[in-house]
Amino acid sequence: MPAVRAGLAEQLGRLPAQESGAQDLVDLVLGLPGELSPADRAQLLQRLVLSTVGFTGVTLEWVVMLGIQHGYDTPAVRQEHIHRLVREVLRLYPTAWRLIRVAAADHDIAGSPVREGEHVLIGTHAIHRSAAVWDRPLDFRPSRWEQPTDDQRRSYLPFGKGEGMCPANGFAVKALEHLSHLILHGYRGHVRLRTRRPHVRTLLAPPAGWTRLTPAPPPDR
Ligand code: HEM
Repeated sequence: MPAVRAGLAEQLGRLPAQESGAQDLVDLVLGLPGELSPADRAQLLQRLVLSTVGFTGVTLEWVVMLGIQHGYDTPAVRQEHIHRLVREVLRLYPTAWRLIRVAAADHDIAGSPVREGEHVLIGTHAIHRSAAVWDRPLDFRPSRWEQPTDDQRRSYLPFGKGEGMCPANGFAVKALEHLSHLILHGYRGHVRLRTRRPHVRTLLAPPAGWTRLTPAPPPDR
């Protein structure tokens, strides 16, 4: 990551500042007023790319991989199947596996003291697997989304909650459903994983391995 940021900083340092009318994220970052060094702008650019393309791309990887493993790569797959598939993927494998908040005041969480200014991690991944909320929580079962309970809706946080909630949550789900449908409807897939363990860093990404897609044969006449 430091090497990527240094490379971005070098490239940004060579570009002229954008006066107005940003066309893309690079223009946006270059046009920000204030005393920001190329390294600051590079960090901002990298974070923006991660939060837009990164989250969506990694979630699409999960949806296609799990969709193939569970037999969704068929011409019979319909939009409503994909809708439930995407919801279930983001339940078991929330790309943003934890949220971060800063305590505004001293308080207690279930008996643990928290001081003002401390960072509090909210474990979305764990909440999404709570047996108190989900029936057989570790099972991959998109049909559970046919009739979610109020408790399940409340405990479902793939896009966060409250003021900091992802502003793209509606749009991102629509884009994911559309792209996943195009892929799973039009291609037959094959997945081979080298390990079962997901890759956990800033994002929760699928395990190492590969997914091969082959165009679906035309339907019989
Ligand atoms: C599947 C795709 C995505 C997922 C799972 C996702 C998830 C998240 C999460 C969990 C947060 C933090 C929310 C919180 O702390 O409560 C967040 C924030 C944010 N997301 Fe997304 N996101 C996705 C796609 C996108 C896209 C496509 C965009 C922009 C085009 C975007 C823009 C943002 C921004 C600007 C914030 C910061 C909001 C703030 O701090 O006020 N996200 N996202």
